[in-house]
Amino acid sequence: MKIALLGYGTVGSGTAECLRNHPMEGVDLAKVLDKRKIDEIKEILTDNIDDILNDGTIETVVEVMGGEEPAYTFVKSALLKGKNVVSANKLMLSRHYDELVNLAREKNLSLSFSAAAGGSIPWLFNLLRAKRVDNILNVGGVMNGTTNFILDKMQTGDGADFDKVLKEAQAKGYAEADPTADIDGLDVKAKIALSCDIAYSKMIDPDDIPALGIRYVTKNDIDNFKAMGYNCRLIGRGEKIGDEVAVYVEPMLFKPDAAEYTLAGAGNIISYLGEKMGKQSYFGLGAGKEPTGAAIVNDLYDIAAGISIFDMAQCVGKTKCRPELVCHEYYVRTNTEFDRSIVKETVGDNAFITKKISVASMHELAQKIIADGKEIFAASIAE
Ligand code: HSE
Repeated sequence: MKIALLGYGTVGSGTAECLRNHPMEGVDLAKVLDKRKIDEIKEILTDNIDDILNDGTIETVVEVMGGEEPAYTFVKSALLKGKNVVSANKLMLSRHYDELVNLAREKNLSLSFSAAAGGSIPWLFNLLRAKRVDNILNVGGVMNGTTNFILDKMQTGDGADFDKVLKEAQAKGYAEADPTADIDGLDVKAKIALSCDIAYSKMIDPDDIPALGIRYVTKNDIDNFKAMGYNCRLIGRGEKIGDEVAVYVEPMLFKPDAAEYTLAGAGNIISYLGEKMGKQSYFGLGAGKEPTGAAIVNDLYDIAAGISIFDMAQCVGKTKCRPELVCHEYYVRTNTEFDRSIVKETVGDNAFITKKISVASMHELAQKIIADGKEIFAASIAE
């Protein structure tokens, strides 16, 4: 099977390296699309997508460019030309899930995307398997390596400074090209949307998912969490409630008996709760060049072997995310007025715990405060 790689950045070069180190007979990297001059792959390099789309010998395209465009156009064109696709592009896939999954099914092609959520962890792969034999009641967890790396360092590393730790995460190749996508929860929106798409066979628009990130977390907050016996993680979650799905992204506080409490470095821990199978959790490295490259190559080898689990993914329409259906207590610290009627107890001089309020209400309040140019950090308390 001849393959072409679209993009030779961190993930693309990690994929090529894994293919070189762990070859599979009959699978050959024939072309790489990248606008830059890259000596190590100069014999197979092109800057023209048509060289790949119009090459009938290329059976499978691996899209690792990131960003919505031109990735979406290239992937759709590749499927229309009868080529299988492997993609790690969570943003593009989550925005076009219904169209691309259905197009691949129609054309009897594979569209695989293990690396789009969970990095090297076989999360989506196992979620698909669980979903075919059970009713998935909820999905989610820690799905962003960069923010976990930052929170872990801040919580265990003598109160290390936010900006300094972020630079370290960028140097290690964990962060997105624009790290605000990590910090503000946009990366997790795409990953939890894809997870819900798979679990419920209906598309959730990632842009509708309410998200609070960790941009405003301070050393003072971390000290408050420590005093209360919590560790903070950024989570994405989807919960089935009747025929609806409540989806949201927010920081969450965990007690030491939760697996999330001790999750170190760029780790991810993602779980589903099956009605019959119970809770199953997957954890490991959620970001980085080599782990992500390895997940992509595994998808490729499954396609080459004719056993791609992603061929089972289905999408039978769209559904709204309904954050008003779930309620939490929240830790809140803000430098502005707040509706005191929802305060349950104060924490130190400037923070408090709310009574149980809906995720939708908390996120609306926080977004209003942020839009007014004020600061707020809110984290729900895990039950
Ligand atoms: N920026 C992402 C993360 C990369 O930190 O998890 C993996 O999707």
